[in-house]
Amino acid sequence: MIKEIKISDYQFLTNIDKDIHNFINNSPYRHIRMYEEDEVKGYIIYDIIDDRMEIINIYVDNNYRHQGIGTKLLNNIILLAKVNKFNNISLEVNVNNIEAICLYKKLGFTVEATRDNYYNGEDAYLMLKEIDKKSVYILAIESSCDETSVSIVKDGNVELATSTATQIDIHELYGGVVPEIASREHVKSITLVLEDALIKSGLKIDDISAIAVTIGPGLVGSLLVGIEAAKTLALIYNKPLIPVNHMKGHIFGNYLHNNVEYPALCLIISGGHTELVYLTDPYNFKKIGETVDDAVGECYDKVARVLNLTYPGGPKIDALAHKGRPSYKLPMPLKDDSLNFSYSGLKSAVINLVNSEKQRGNEIVPEDLARSFQDIIVSSLIYKTEKALDIVDVKTIMLAGGVSANSDIRLSFENLARDRKLNFSCPLLKYCTDNAAMIASYAYFLYLNKEFSDLKINAKPSLDIF
Ligand code: KG4
Ligand code: ZN
Repeated sequence: MIKEIKISDYQFLTNIDKDIHNFINNSPYRHIRMYEEDEVKGYIIYDIIDDRMEIINIYVDNNYRHQGIGTKLLNNIILLAKVNKFNNISLEVNVNNIEAICLYKKLGFTVEATRDNYYNGEDAYLMLKEIDKKSVYILAIESSCDETSVSIVKDGNVELATSTATQIDIHELYGGVVPEIASREHVKSITLVLEDALIKSGLKIDDISAIAVTIGPGLVGSLLVGIEAAKTLALIYNKPLIPVNHMKGHIFGNYLHNNVEYPALCLIISGGHTELVYLTDPYNFKKIGETVDDAVGECYDKVARVLNLTYPGGPKIDALAHKGRPSYKLPMPLKDDSLNFSYSGLKSAVINLVNSEKQRGNEIVPEDLARSFQDIIVSSLIYKTEKALDIVDVKTIMLAGGVSANSDIRLSFENLARDRKLNFSCPLLKYCTDNAAMIASYAYFLYLNKEFSDLKINAKPSLDIF
């Protein structure tokens, strides 16, 4: 794994290179990234000056040379330049270091000039790599649950078109998503939605750089409809195919209107997931906490049922809560030091309360119950996020997933970030629940890193965040 460390923390790298101090200075431009695999095996030091990068030194431990580590470090820097839309990367190399010059040429560097006597009497080449800033247009398909959605997004954050066929009306009749019905509905909608999105975007299929598709987690039958459509497009039009993790997509719902500063902590709250994820950049995710039973959205939907509210219950409880008082006492879930969540106990407590009040002949006040329930949900989410913030050092707190549309959760997290002097980001409401724009946004980063797949990809209903 390659990770950035603070330049002031370089001392421990003297174990692999005792001369590293020659390349360390206090300028705000200087950065360092190290390559670690069981132990530290190499590093790269570089400057970021306005919109260009300058490589200062690349070092690979003697024991690990010729294993491609230098190439990986360089590719990492090239990726960083692409993500940040820098203009170019430059470096100097001894004219006699043929091996290094060949590697740089292979990675797209060209010789720009010769610097006489650069290395104590030996000359150096100045080599430069221009960063390709041609716009990237991703067509993404999302069909993991009950929305058939297609988006076309430019450069990860300019949404050109989205077309979504929702099935909520159908599943409302059954009180939740019926998987078999969901996949049949996707089959009916997929070609219409695809055509509609392409027309709205004003682009032709030839203009599209790659086809992205959600491969999981989700309902297998639903996922397969999107995957088969994506494979067909990739095959017929000869486009790269990018498989996308739905949960990572949710996180990148933030990127569509915000420039996320890393490291970041993201709380993903949806119908199927409740997770705390730590990100050091768009490519490194670490799940540091999750629910041990029900997800928050699931808890909302089940509590909504006992209040005779239709699916999805979350938005309805949210609206009711604003008209009620917190007059019911409910248990705070899992108030321990772990970073895990638990919502099945809270769900049972609400169901028991409603039943026992009914037996006593008392009327439940739905607004008050909604208020009491939402207060507990918000406190439990904030409580665990604060525990996580005690452990990880971040610049940004993010929300993601369908439940992040919740008005009180958004407000409380905004306040938490302000108190902690951190950036706060939550997706626009239209990017909270399932949509293909967030899938396209994340696929853009995968495109930059050439994370393409062949036509053998399959649905992964239980895909994890890693
Ligand atoms: O992310 P999503 O669209 O689908 C999954 O991947 O699960 O999330 C759907 C969930 C549902 O449980 C729905 O009730 C919940 O998000 N939800 C809300 C709100 N809006 C949607 N929950 C609480 N408050 C809301 N305003
Ligand atoms: Zn989702």
